[in-house]
Amino acid sequence: MRKSNINNNKGFSVFWPTLICSCLLAEIISAKPTKAPQQYNVERVTPALELGEGPHWHSPTRSLYFVDLHQGKINRYHPESNSFFSASIEGYSDVTLIVPIENKADMFVVGLGPSLGIVQWDGRSNTTSQPKYKKLVDETPGNRLNDGKADATGRLWVGSMGSEMADNPGHYHKHLGSLYSVEPDGSINKRLSNVSISNGMAWSMDNKVFYYIDTYKFAVEAYDFDITTGDLTNGKVIFDLVANKVAGDPDGMTIDKNGNLWVACFNSNHILKIDPITGTLLTTVQLPAYQVTSAAFGGPELDELYVTTAGYQLTEAQKAKRPYSGAVFRVTNTGSTGLEGVPAKAHLCPENQLHTI
Ligand SMILES: *[C@@H]1O[C@H](CO)[C@@H](O)[C@H](O)[C@H]1NC(C)=O
Ligand SMILES: *[C@@H]1O[C@H](CO)[C@@H](O)[C@H](O)[C@H]1NC(C)=O
Repeated sequence: MRKSNINNNKGFSVFWPTLICSCLLAEIISAKPTKAPQQYNVERVTPALELGEGPHWHSPTRSLYFVDLHQGKINRYHPESNSFFSASIEGYSDVTLIVPIENKADMFVVGLGPSLGIVQWDGRSNTTSQPKYKKLVDETPGNRLNDGKADATGRLWVGSMGSEMADNPGHYHKHLGSLYSVEPDGSINKRLSNVSISNGMAWSMDNKVFYYIDTYKFAVEAYDFDITTGDLTNGKVIFDLVANKVAGDPDGMTIDKNGNLWVACFNSNHILKIDPITGTLLTTVQLPAYQVTSAAFGGPELDELYVTTAGYQLTEAQKAKRPYSGAVFRVTNTGSTGLEGVPAKAHLCPENQLHTI
């Protein structure tokens, strides 16, 4: 597939000398209190999926992994060869997250409905192995898992949500979900309950704060985080979308090395850059999609923002207007760099209690 530039800012052409200059400029600018307007470049890098989610930049394979949630697929985009690979996990229709396992290039923890499982994938074939191990995480009938991520110690965090309302598509039963962590011995701890749609997670650089999004709160929250025990305390709202008159439903998020959050907004075409210390909106980046679902920094310098989107339950008119709703987009020239994805520790392997099926 050819790269295509979809939303180039006028007058900004993409070639390496320009990018290098812009990066240097961005560093100089960021050292000063006043900010020049940013010129983002947005390009589409994959075909349009139905519901792209859970991007994870895997440095060992220099690839972005992500899911197409209801299609039951895991995907890989490899920037150097500009290639896209997609594999079905046969028999599963809700594959909600993908996190590579530490030191195992072809093993992944995936969300499978309400359970976690481990699949083997070479990153190229169109199917994975059947799940080798599987463990039920959320026992509430109708619930399924949603986004998940490993913290700096490799402890896996995964949240859940209620089912979609049969008579109200796109809306979900509230307050039935939870946030869990999977500990080094394979045991699972419920960390938060009364969650509606568990979504974005990020940790501050010093690992003392956990940022969290329960979509139906239309806000980003911060908890004091104890990385040794995994305890979350003193939750408070640090950015309220409604109070800030920002449209959309907060979904996935990532953090950059300056400690700012990049928050994807479902039911909108933008991603927000938020300073969580001051609670201010710094920037908005527009994408040619109706549903922006999540983001992760990647690329060799970790300065490329990969944004997943969806084209879920769109009308034909919407699909015609934004045909690439559902693709992954690469945003460059943000002036920000992020952190590579943290792989999950191999404690999810069978000797440590993840049950075989
Ligand atoms: C998957 O790949 C195999 C060969 O490796 C091919 O025969 C098959 O048609 C492919 N299936 C799909 C759905 O592309
Ligand atoms: C659940 O959370 C909502 C806010 O999202 C709150 O209004 C409600 O009181 C909470 N319920 C319980 C049982 O904590």
